[in-house]
Amino acid sequence: MSCGIVAYVGARKALPIIFDTLKRLEYRGYDSAGVALLEDKRIFLAKQKGKIKDLEDGLKSENILSGIGIGHTRWATHGRPSDFNAHPHLDCSGKIAVVHNGIIENYNELREELRSRGHNFRSETDTEVIPHLLEEFYQGDPLQALQKAISRLRGSYAIAAIFTGWDKVFFARKDSPLIIGIGEGENFLASDIPAVLPYTKRVIVLEDGDTGFVSSAEYAIFQGDRKIERKIMEVPWDQQAAERGGFEHFMIKEILEQEQSIRDTLRGRIKEDGVVELSEELAPLADKISQLGRIFIVACGTAFYAGMAGKYFLESLLDIPVEIDIASEFRYRAVPVREGDWLILVSQSGETADTLAALRDMKKRGLSTVGIVNAVGSSIAREADVTLYTRAGPEICVASTKAYTAQVTVFYLLGLYLAKLLKGMDIRPLGKELLTIPQKVAQVLAKREEVERMAEELYKERDFFFIGRGMDWGVALEGALKLKEISYLRAEAFAAGELKHGPLALIYEGVPVIAVVTQEALRDKTISNIEEVWARGARVIGILREGDPLEKELALSFTIPNTIDYFTSPLAVIPLQMLAYYISRKLGREIDQPRNLAKSVTVE
Ligand code: G6P
Repeated sequence: MSCGIVAYVGARKALPIIFDTLKRLEYRGYDSAGVALLEDKRIFLAKQKGKIKDLEDGLKSENILSGIGIGHTRWATHGRPSDFNAHPHLDCSGKIAVVHNGIIENYNELREELRSRGHNFRSETDTEVIPHLLEEFYQGDPLQALQKAISRLRGSYAIAAIFTGWDKVFFARKDSPLIIGIGEGENFLASDIPAVLPYTKRVIVLEDGDTGFVSSAEYAIFQGDRKIERKIMEVPWDQQAAERGGFEHFMIKEILEQEQSIRDTLRGRIKEDGVVELSEELAPLADKISQLGRIFIVACGTAFYAGMAGKYFLESLLDIPVEIDIASEFRYRAVPVREGDWLILVSQSGETADTLAALRDMKKRGLSTVGIVNAVGSSIAREADVTLYTRAGPEICVASTKAYTAQVTVFYLLGLYLAKLLKGMDIRPLGKELLTIPQKVAQVLAKREEVERMAEELYKERDFFFIGRGMDWGVALEGALKLKEISYLRAEAFAAGELKHGPLALIYEGVPVIAVVTQEALRDKTISNIEEVWARGARVIGILREGDPLEKELALSFTIPNTIDYFTSPLAVIPLQMLAYYISRKLGREIDQPRNLAKSVTVE
């Protein structure tokens, strides 16, 4: 999960340095910003909704001499973007301030417990439990208090905390990134290396379970009670490359983040035994679930293709009709709706004009509405009856990658949850399999050089066709969209069974046809379509399951780890994302900002 945190401690004024470092983390989130600085006996706190620059401008006239402080730029997960929900968060006494990046899964129960012990909460965030836990455990040693506090937390966190009376910043990390920047007479903490690069190139990348502190003169890292040393790394990158985590483009950075973003999307919603728990998130529709009639899925672009995976999954599990529509079509169609019908809107930005309009129209007509949205607090997220967030973090590249796999993941969770409720299905075997997907995604990502070699063989081609059946059809469509968006090559996808009804006329000697064949149940059918293009001289490239004998017959193919048919989409789409990326890179395209396209389309 994104959000950026920084801390500074040293001889200089902390405030300008905190703003400067924070701005280089703005790509991690930009819903709200905040700073806390240690003054003599108190903490100076300033935070507000909006960009870092707005907060900075508002503080121009303040001359705060403090040389120690923390800062935060937020990508909202729990609680909409607002002044109250902005970090840092304070304890009741105002003597402890905390910034956090991550998700605290058990914040509800901790908040109740802390409230019953008299603590006062001011925000809707999961983070606010941390300063109150610190207050609870503080008995003169901040590090000890922090270690006790994190022993109560479930979830992911990078935490930086300041305590009045201590010239140090205390930190802890688990499953969210955190680094120490080592300067001369000053030290830094940050979510990511680019934040500190203008000040120092010497960094320590902290690991899970690390706690400790930085002061102006030293730093210390602990694992439990044991003080440990970690390697100091000299960063060779320049500033621009650093913002992309050392990668040439945001697109490849975001592709490689997919193991984490799927894990984050599953986090707290599915237990180890495979049982899915969405009752809190779906609470506003709780009494409507049993009367669920039909489902309409409506979206644009990549979100629409994620919806296709959703349609196939939901209808086969729930045994109810699930329709899918492109938002710009749905709006102007005379859709007959009945009581009990649900509308699911899928959107990364939550602001896409056509998707939003479809939501508003159907709300008026009485449908129950569910958003699958990435941007917390966006219009669709605010207006839908329920929003199930994809926790993919900010996506900067115009071509969407990690949002798609997170959207498909949310459909899996929703389908499993409803199947148990509506059909009394034992979803545990499926749920357990779903839990293996992040690891399998990592295996696919690890083979990226194979795709790079494939791109070298293919980048001189001008036409590309993609085919698949069932859920593979949706993947083929998304693969073709990725390629055309960023390479400007012609890339079209077809339902494999439709080839002979027209598209086959386009096939010529040597043209690449990318066949997605991951659905066991449909394999033989797709192979008969592969035969059709083979017979016309096409060069077939397979996206196959490991162990498929078809691999031996194809000159070029990529295999994905085995799973059940339902869950192959996130695995099969990744080699296609990477293929689009590497082909476009070979062609010297812009990639992150393709011509004529925008990330968020807020006009019709
Ligand atoms: C634009 C973007 C696509 C995105 C589509 C839908 O076309 O370039 O990447 O899939 O809009 O956007 P949304 O924010 O609703 O998912």
